[in-house]
Amino acid sequence: MSNERKLLELKAKIEKAELGGGIAAIEKQHAKGKFTARERIDLLLDPGSFEEIDKLRTHSCTDFGMEKKKFYGDGMVTGYGSIHGRLAFVYAFDFTVIGGTLSKTVGEKVGKIMDMAAKVGAPVIGINDSGGARIQEGVDALAGYTNIFIKNILYSGVIPQISAVVGPCAGGAVYSPALTDFVFMAKHTSYMFLTGPKVVKQVTHEDVTAEQLGGADVHGKKSGVTHFTCEDETSLFEGIRELITYIPQSNNEESPIVECGDEPTRISAQLNTIIPENPNKPYDVHDIIKQVVDCGKFFEVQKDFAKNIIVGFSRLNGKSVGIVANQPKVMAGVLDSNASVKGARFIRFCDCFNIPVITFEDVPGFLPGTAQEFNGIINHGAKMMFAYGEATVPKITVITRKAYGGAYCVMNSKQLRGDMVFAWPTAEIAVMGAEGASKIVYGKEIKASDDPAAKLKEKVEEYSDRFANPYVALEKGFIDGIIEPELTRYKLIKSLEMLKNKRDENPPKKHGNMPL
Ligand code: HXC
Repeated sequence: MSNERKLLELKAKIEKAELGGGIAAIEKQHAKGKFTARERIDLLLDPGSFEEIDKLRTHSCTDFGMEKKKFYGDGMVTGYGSIHGRLAFVYAFDFTVIGGTLSKTVGEKVGKIMDMAAKVGAPVIGINDSGGARIQEGVDALAGYTNIFIKNILYSGVIPQISAVVGPCAGGAVYSPALTDFVFMAKHTSYMFLTGPKVVKQVTHEDVTAEQLGGADVHGKKSGVTHFTCEDETSLFEGIRELITYIPQSNNEESPIVECGDEPTRISAQLNTIIPENPNKPYDVHDIIKQVVDCGKFFEVQKDFAKNIIVGFSRLNGKSVGIVANQPKVMAGVLDSNASVKGARFIRFCDCFNIPVITFEDVPGFLPGTAQEFNGIINHGAKMMFAYGEATVPKITVITRKAYGGAYCVMNSKQLRGDMVFAWPTAEIAVMGAEGASKIVYGKEIKASDDPAAKLKEKVEEYSDRFANPYVALEKGFIDGIIEPELTRYKLIKSLEMLKNKRDENPPKKHGNMPL
C-alpha cells in the first residue's frame, strides 16, 4: 500500500471513530435531548484543546456475536485538554455505541487516563451516560468497573475527580461517580439508581418513574448524592468549568489566584445591621457571605440539600476559600444529620486540596428528637467534628450570633484547632439558650414562685446578661477577638495572609477511623 493510501486509510478510520455508533444513533441521542460524547467534551474543554487517546481501540469479546459488533473507541472517548488554560483529563461514555456500556476495554481506557492524570497531577472529569456493565462481556465488564473504582479510591485526595451524569447511570455504574469529589446532574436527562423502576416494582412493589427514583432533583434535594443540579447539559459543563477555577490541579498545589479588583481593605457597613435585634429572628447568611467575599461571588455546592447549612467556594483577595455557614433562615440553622454529613464532606475536600476553610457560625445546637436520634445524628454530628478536627488547612471562624452547646464545639472551635476564631458583638456563646438553661438551673425556684412566668423571665434575663454574649469566651481565650462586623473581610484576609505558611500535622497513623 502506498504511503498516500495509508494516510487515507488512517483518515477513514478516524472519521469512522468520530461517528461513534453512526449517524442514526447520533440522531437518536439528539432526539432524547442529549449531546454526544464528543459534543460534551467540546463543551467542557477549551476550544480545540482536546487530544484523544486510544481512539481506535476495540473490544475483544467474541461471545453473543460481539465479534461482529465492533466500533472504534468501543463506546468510550478519552483524552486530555485544557479548562481555562489548565490541563484536565476527560473520559466520556458514548451512548451511541452499545448504549455506552462498560467493557473490559472501556475499563482499561478509563484506567489509563486516570493513571496519567495522577502521574502528572491534573483533575479528571468523567462524563457518564451508560447502560452499565456490557452484559455480553460478563465478568470482564465487572472487572472493568472495579478497575475504575479502585483508581477512584486510590486517587481520591490526590487529584480532583469530577463526575458529570448526563444520561442513565444504573447498577454498579453509580459507584464511580459516588467515589468522586463532585457529581453534576442535568435535569430531565440524568438518572442514577442501583436498580431501575422495574426491579423496584418487583422487590418493594413501589410504582416509581426513573425521574422519581433517581432524577437530578431527587439526588439534589433528597439524597444529596449530587452536588450540582443543572438545568441542562450546557449549563452543567459551564458549571464544571467554573468549579475548576476554585480548585488546585492536585494535592501538591494551591488553587490559582483569581483577582477581581475587590479591595482587601473594603469595609461593608451593611454587615453592622444584618443581625436582627430579636435573636430569634432569622436572616439569610448568603447576605453575609456576599458582603465579605471577593466581588460577592459565591459558588454554592449542594445548594438544595440540607439547606440549614451552606457550603461552597469563594475567594478572599484572589485566594480560593471553602465557606461553611449555618443558615438561620432554614430551621434556625440547626445542625441535623444531613447538614452534618454535607458539612463534613465539604471540609474534607477542602482539606485534601489545600483550600482554607472559613466558617460563619450561628447555630442553636443539634436538632433533638427521635427522628434524628434513630437516624444516627450522634455519628453524623461526629463526622462533622472529625472533619474539622483533623483538617490541617487554615481554619477561621466568625461567630455572628449563636454558638450553643455541642454545635459550639463542632463548628471549628478553638479547641478543634480553629486557627482564628472571631466573634461579632452580637455573638452568644454558651452551653444552651437562655430559656432552656434557666428552666433547668432554676426549675425548682421558678415552680415555687408565686408568678412562675415572671420568675422565668427574670431568670432568662439574668442568664442572657451573664452568658448570651461573646465576652466570657473572650476572657478565657476561647475566641481570639471580637470584631466590628464591617471589618470582617479585612480581618479574614489579614488572618489568611498570616496563616499562609501554616504547618500542622496529625499524629503518624495509617488513617483515622472517622465515624462513618
Ligand atoms: C449490553 C446494552 C446494555 C447493557 C443497553 N444496551 N444496556 N447492551 N449491556 N447493559 C444496548 C441496547 O441493547 C441497545 O442496543 C443500546 O444499548 C441502547 O439501549 P436502549 O435500551 O435502546 O436505549 P434506551 O431506550 O435509551 O434505554 C437505556 C437504558 C436501557 C435505560 C440504559 O438500555 C437499560 O435499562 N439497560 C440496562 C441497564 C442495566 O440494567 N444495567 C445494569 C447492568 S449490570 P442496540 O443494539 O439495540 O442499539 C451492572 C452491574 C455492574 O451494571 C456492577 C459493577 C460493580
